[in-house]
Amino acid sequence: MAKLLYITVNPKNDMKLSKGMQIGEVFLEEFKKHQPDIEIENMHLYDLDIPVIDMDLLYARAKLSFMGKTFDELSEGEQKQITNMHALADRFIDADYYVFVTPLWNLGSPAILKAFLDNLFIVNKTFANTPEGPKGLLTNRKAIHIQTRGGIYSTGPMAEFEFGDRFLRKALGFLGLELMDTVVAEGMDHFPKQIPEIMEKAKQDAVFAAREMAKNPVTV
Ligand SMILES: Cc1cc2nc3c(=O)[nH]c(=O)nc-3n(C[C@H](O)[C@H](O)[C@H](O)COP(=O)(O)O)c2cc1C
Repeated sequence: MAKLLYITVNPKNDMKLSKGMQIGEVFLEEFKKHQPDIEIENMHLYDLDIPVIDMDLLYARAKLSFMGKTFDELSEGEQKQITNMHALADRFIDADYYVFVTPLWNLGSPAILKAFLDNLFIVNKTFANTPEGPKGLLTNRKAIHIQTRGGIYSTGPMAEFEFGDRFLRKALGFLGLELMDTVVAEGMDHFPKQIPEIMEKAKQDAVFAAREMAKNPVTV
């Protein structure tokens, strides 16, 4: 059975408080209509214990990658960090479809998303270094990004300041994972009177994106 990982990157733990999560729900409902057997796993990043690359983890990685040490030779603390990192990466790798729901925060995504992505960049697991350069190993998968923004970044002077969607797209692409589409709901803090129509348009875009993603199912 195919699996969809629904990754919400927002400290808000109630869907009613997050416009992004409301759009995400519309996406999921539509996707389920086209792939009723899909298994959906929720990953609310703020509920997870995400390893941060601190001195311990940095050193443990170095010992394994170029200091000739084996896992058994690591300290208990280092083994725990490495095990947690691989467990998180394995959970990610195990899916076929991915939905990221993020707000734009200070021109990028909430920092916890970077911490999460840092756990996925594991050589010979999610990417390989080849003579032609790095090659992503997470192929045959599809992803979508739903992003909310207080201001307008799709056009105008702020367009070049958007680094949330841009970074996620490149990071996933590096790992071989195609980000098919980004559903954007923008300008809701700057133009609050327009919230209903901005949300309506984003929900329509989410329905369209769900139909597109459900087409040509990923082969499991
Ligand atoms: C800490 C913080 C930083 C933010 N930074 C930006 C920003 O750089 N650009 C922007 O357009 N909106 C910014 N916003 C506004 C949010 O992107 C906006 O309110 C969005 O709709 C929140 O989505 P949500 O309802 O799913 O949480 C910021 C909000 C917060 C709380």
